[in-house]
Amino acid sequence: MFASQQVQHRPQVRTSVDVSSLSLYVHFPFCRQKCHFCDWVQRVPKQDLLREAGDSKRRSYVDALSHELRERGMRLTAEGYRPTVIYWGGGTSTSMSGDEVAAIVETMRDGFDLSEVREWTIEGSPDTVSPESLAHYRALGFNRFSVGVQSFQDGRLRKLGRRHNSDQGRDAIRAARAAGFETVSLDIMCGFADETPEETDANVAAAVDLHPEHLSVYTFRPTEGTVIRRSIDHHQVKLEVARQLASYQRASKALVRAGYAEYGVGYFGQPAENVTAMFQLRSDVAGFGSGAVSIMDGTYLGHTSGLLDRYIDDPLHHDFEQSLMAPGVALSLLRSGLSIHGGIAADDWERRIGESLAESLRRPEIARLLAMLDVTGAVELSEERIALRPEKAALVIIGLMNQAMLASSATQ
Ligand SMILES: C[S@@+](CC[C@H](N)C(=O)[O-])C[C@H]1O[C@@H](n2cnc3c(N)ncnc32)[C@H](O)[C@@H]1O
Ligand code: SF4
Repeated sequence: MFASQQVQHRPQVRTSVDVSSLSLYVHFPFCRQKCHFCDWVQRVPKQDLLREAGDSKRRSYVDALSHELRERGMRLTAEGYRPTVIYWGGGTSTSMSGDEVAAIVETMRDGFDLSEVREWTIEGSPDTVSPESLAHYRALGFNRFSVGVQSFQDGRLRKLGRRHNSDQGRDAIRAARAAGFETVSLDIMCGFADETPEETDANVAAAVDLHPEHLSVYTFRPTEGTVIRRSIDHHQVKLEVARQLASYQRASKALVRAGYAEYGVGYFGQPAENVTAMFQLRSDVAGFGSGAVSIMDGTYLGHTSGLLDRYIDDPLHHDFEQSLMAPGVALSLLRSGLSIHGGIAADDWERRIGESLAESLRRPEIARLLAMLDVTGAVELSEERIALRPEKAALVIIGLMNQAMLASSATQ
């Protein structure tokens, strides 16, 4: 999408004497199935997504990823970057074989000085972990496990195309605890067209029973190309945004009552540094792998999702590189930042973007967004920061986003 656009500004010229914290994201675009709702791997062709350990293309991907981690890592280290947060996502990072994990950890250690890492997450699904694999991750240094449970209702899990049942979800969380993970996070989903309030309540209650430190509650995004979205369009199912919002708000209230503070739309409990670092622009972000993006030195750059061959051919080449001040980029960074309560500090905005928040807010596309949000009375703006009022944030982030998604296809 950004391939033809050029970098216009590089606000910071780094020298080797600077020491800056860095958030690392490592992408593993392989899974054991393509779930009916999932838009994270939407652009990865199914025959690539389902490649197993030992497959030659998957081996080449791991080699390319290792190469990128070592080469870019050494460069970033020489420039003074020290990772404090690491997130291995996907796809399904826990579907890596022991050898794949070990190879990638080793090259990450070759490229980076990991002595200042505070939070190191591996993300996965319940059907791809075992007490042994979790113990292995823990021994390698991971201290946070994030698991996509999605639902504790077996019927819903089947509709979502998952390979696990609700008991496997519970077992994965208990096994992570037994393996010594300091933080366990689980993802659940809400806002399906046929979801009842009772289902939402039961799902949240089952999640709370497991006492995770962190929960992500994702309201279903009807992204085009997913099986569920195709079915919605085919059967002309009414996915009402107001009902989706009500479902999220019901889940949110129940979690707050259970002691999980909402620190952003969809995020509860002990704030995850990988979320706040990236969304609130608290540190530079270096993404590795096909589909991963970096936000650093005033630029937004990365490898296009799904183009595995291109990535394998040259993992050091970025498919797109654009100034953070470019209209679409600044707008989407602002939208992500607004989804976290407390929003974005003016200092962090200026440090990353390269111009003051006040100047950016005068840019036409951002001014238009603000004017639209002004009608909802949701924006809190001061010299120090821009944020949404927490009680209005879900309406803006979920309501407007999903409405736009549905509206855009109705007009095609
Ligand atoms: C990278 S994905 C998947 C993690 C892991 N592979 C799994 O299977 O659970 C991270 C999370 O995004 C959420 N997600 C994926 N597609 C979504 C969609 N269309 N709408 C809302 N949330 C979605 C799911 O809750 C999922 O756990
Ligand atoms: S939810 Fe997880 S396992 Fe399912 S397709 Fe998405 S990334 Fe893969």
